[in-house]
Amino acid sequence: MCGIIGFTGGRNAVPVLIDGLKALEYRGYDSAGIAIAGEKITTVKSVGRISSLEKKLEAAPVVGCCGIGHTRWATHGCPTEGNCHPHMSADGKFAVVHNGIIENDKELRALIREAGIEPKSDTDSEVVAHLLSLDYDGDPVEALCRTVSRLKGSFALGVLCADRPDEIYAAKMRSPLLIGYGDGTCLSSDGTAMPRDINEITVLADGQTARLTKDGATVYFRGKQVGCERIKPTVSGRAASLSGYPHFMLKEMYEQPEAIARTISTECRGKRTGLKGTGLTLIGCGSSYNAALSCRPLLERATGRSVEVALAGEFLYSERVPAYGKQCVLLSQSGETADTIAAAEEAARRGYGTLAITNVHASTLTRTCDDYLCTRAGPEISVATTKGFTTQVAALGLLAGSEFASAVRELPGLAEKALQASEGLKNTAGYFDGGCVFFMGRGADYGAALEGALKLKEISYIPAIGIAAGELKHGSISLIEKGTPVIAICTDDRLIGKSLLSIATVKTRGGYVIGVTSSPEIAAACDEAIMLPPVHPMLSAAVSVIPLQRLAYEVALGLGRDIDKPRNLAKSVTVE
Ligand code: G6P
Repeated sequence: MCGIIGFTGGRNAVPVLIDGLKALEYRGYDSAGIAIAGEKITTVKSVGRISSLEKKLEAAPVVGCCGIGHTRWATHGCPTEGNCHPHMSADGKFAVVHNGIIENDKELRALIREAGIEPKSDTDSEVVAHLLSLDYDGDPVEALCRTVSRLKGSFALGVLCADRPDEIYAAKMRSPLLIGYGDGTCLSSDGTAMPRDINEITVLADGQTARLTKDGATVYFRGKQVGCERIKPTVSGRAASLSGYPHFMLKEMYEQPEAIARTISTECRGKRTGLKGTGLTLIGCGSSYNAALSCRPLLERATGRSVEVALAGEFLYSERVPAYGKQCVLLSQSGETADTIAAAEEAARRGYGTLAITNVHASTLTRTCDDYLCTRAGPEISVATTKGFTTQVAALGLLAGSEFASAVRELPGLAEKALQASEGLKNTAGYFDGGCVFFMGRGADYGAALEGALKLKEISYIPAIGIAAGELKHGSISLIEKGTPVIAICTDDRLIGKSLLSIATVKTRGGYVIGVTSSPEIAAACDEAIMLPPVHPMLSAAVSVIPLQRLAYEVALGLGRDIDKPRNLAKSVTVE
């Protein structure tokens, strides 16, 4: 989603902000802007990528030791310069950057109109700047406390006040915000955007406000100063670089064997992780949901019970059936997806014990749940997740217990082989002419099919349907015509007979079948096939998804798409 960066220190803040915005660009990239404190606050904004903001700054340089910046993923209002952050108060006193959603924006707009101020933008964020100037009587921290008490919804705020040009003010409610300490003090919604010299961070809690100076920070709760714990950051600032790869997605695909190996060997988990309780529900959004779904058979085998898998946004509005004694596992690569966090809170209200599986230790989800198990994928920059998905499957494998330990240990090596096999897809892009593509599978292969279809849609913009192979004949088969590409995933030898039937049904209608399988028999029935190494059928999605990721990558590359930053998407969606 949107990203916030702020810096105050003994050097020019502009390059720090620009570098930070570039690191945050994967979270949202409709428009970006900075505000620099000085005698007056100066803002520079630009629609589009950070590079166009940089060009503006090259043409008309701005210098100052204290500033804030924002990269936007539009929710309220189109991506225009007027809607771009930072927003200024009408009197020029305050500049504000905001992540989240102000839910009572309409009432607050009415309030500022009564005070004779007409909002200039369509955003819900601008109102915060005007409220600050209305609530200000000389102390910016007090003004921020007053303003924040009027806001409903979620927010991470970075604020400059023209009267204190060396300071940044911050407030947090249900949207992540960190303070970093090094050569100067930094504010960011994401640890990866902090400068390299940041060696300690404070994770702000809901309801806290803060004052940042070049020497450190003071944190407040309801206007009273509170202690602020400093911890070592788990991700090193701006560590991610392309290392010679043309795209982060390709680089991260190749990092999968190592990322899975890290996840299963250097366990990062709380004290009480493990499967427990009288029932199990897995929850996630997007790829995290697909990872969960692919592991349903695994966890049903491990628990001997049926396992529910729910989309976070659906779970929230399902019947509030009490679930005391049951367990809910919430999966989220970022640990910041708003629907998943809301689902964790809702699960706790229903009585579930909650366990987070996430790639970010210091995330909102780990703090929301009773316990956590961290994947160790390392920072993932490509908007389309790859190693996030496969490490989640590996983590669920760990959770499934000792019966699966040896199969889990094999995953890194098998992922390596799947990467090699995927090289064969380099020139496959030609089969895809923009018509709908099907991905079909059963059991764990169904989760992989959904993920394969999602990857293709996300980065190539080609319509794709992931379907349970048995469902094809119940309607969707009407879309199969001569040449329709169908990716048949089959990693479970017990399902070879059924899969052969599905493949024949597609081929009879002229479909072009690409098999992703470890079975020579299935491969022979397809028009072409990617051969996978034999893999435990309940953990197979960690391996079978790799050629699907590569396929999506090659197709998107052939179409000249912006692979790491596909249109309309954001890496973590921090609004419900
Ligand atoms: C966004 C991303 C998806 C991702 C989903 C869940 O929609 O574009 O790629 O799968 O969020 O993200 P999470 O961080 O919760 O796993």
